[in-house]
Amino acid sequence: MNEQLIKKIGQLKAERNAVILAHNYQPGEIQDIADFTGDSLALSIKAAATDAEVIVFCGVKFMAETAAILSPGKTVLLPDKNAGCPMADMMTGEQLRELKRKHPGALVVCYVNSSAEVKAESDYCCTSANAVEVVESLPKDSKIIFVPDQHLGRFVIEKTGREMILWPGYCPTHAFITEDDIEKAREAHPGAIVMAHPECNEPVKAISDKLLSTGQMLKFAKQSDAKRFIIATETGIIHTLKKENPDKEFYPVTTRAICPNMKRITLDKVLWSLEDMHYKITVPADIAARAKNALEKMVAILPASPDASRGGSAK
Ligand code: 13P
Ligand code: SF4
Repeated sequence: MNEQLIKKIGQLKAERNAVILAHNYQPGEIQDIADFTGDSLALSIKAAATDAEVIVFCGVKFMAETAAILSPGKTVLLPDKNAGCPMADMMTGEQLRELKRKHPGALVVCYVNSSAEVKAESDYCCTSANAVEVVESLPKDSKIIFVPDQHLGRFVIEKTGREMILWPGYCPTHAFITEDDIEKAREAHPGAIVMAHPECNEPVKAISDKLLSTGQMLKFAKQSDAKRFIIATETGIIHTLKKENPDKEFYPVTTRAICPNMKRITLDKVLWSLEDMHYKITVPADIAARAKNALEKMVAILPASPDASRGGSAK
């Protein structure tokens, strides 16, 4: 059944001159059929650079919006129109305007997990792979507003020593991961390296061994001499970790860390999306023009850490 679906997807992809981009949290079968998989930064870079006329974005809405803003001439399709990101919905454009009024003159850095309107109100955009470098690039005396993820914000404060005004947004999927889960996983798998995402809460990050974006986790696991890893992020990444490192073991810190929005994308929906050319993601021109400015600065600032990469892989 899947073979037929995959064959049809391949045929339509060629007919439409389409490329399939998939985030590292997508279901395994979606990552397997994608032309390119990666973290948010790698996918943004790829979306900006592809020659394809159509981008089928297997991820959530803010990612497809980012692709539409960076590639205005292309058709960007999201196979499930309800695949959103609750963290991105935790701040509206008006809430950010209000925060800016309270802190006049502050530079605004927004996490890519945000609406196009929030990006349009921001000076810089960042992902978890380059947030530290983006903030370090700002003038030392500038006041900084960082939205919407409080946990990534605190990670950046700790790494850079910069003070920042934060917004109380968070990822509900990473909120499922607790300190207790890490301790229990360590008891079950002594000696395994704990890799956690910066979206995790502070007690979890404090006791983890490595804090990395999903692309950085893939790179670190490949390069490390260690053979066993505990994964404190959305469990979808374990599919590719195992595939790329058949001689190593990966254990989810909890099976509760599943993003229901990422899992809305299925093979059938990818096929329907290419057949019917839906759901087209567009951003109003005035918002897109302002958001593009913040996004282009993000794409230009690559992570400097040795563990960091562009965080993606082509098939
Ligand atoms: P990265 O893949 O950039 O680490 O992002 C994680 C995430 O939560 C995406 O929604
Ligand atoms: Fe949003 Fe969290 Fe899902 Fe990423 S994992 S899309 S931040 S809810």
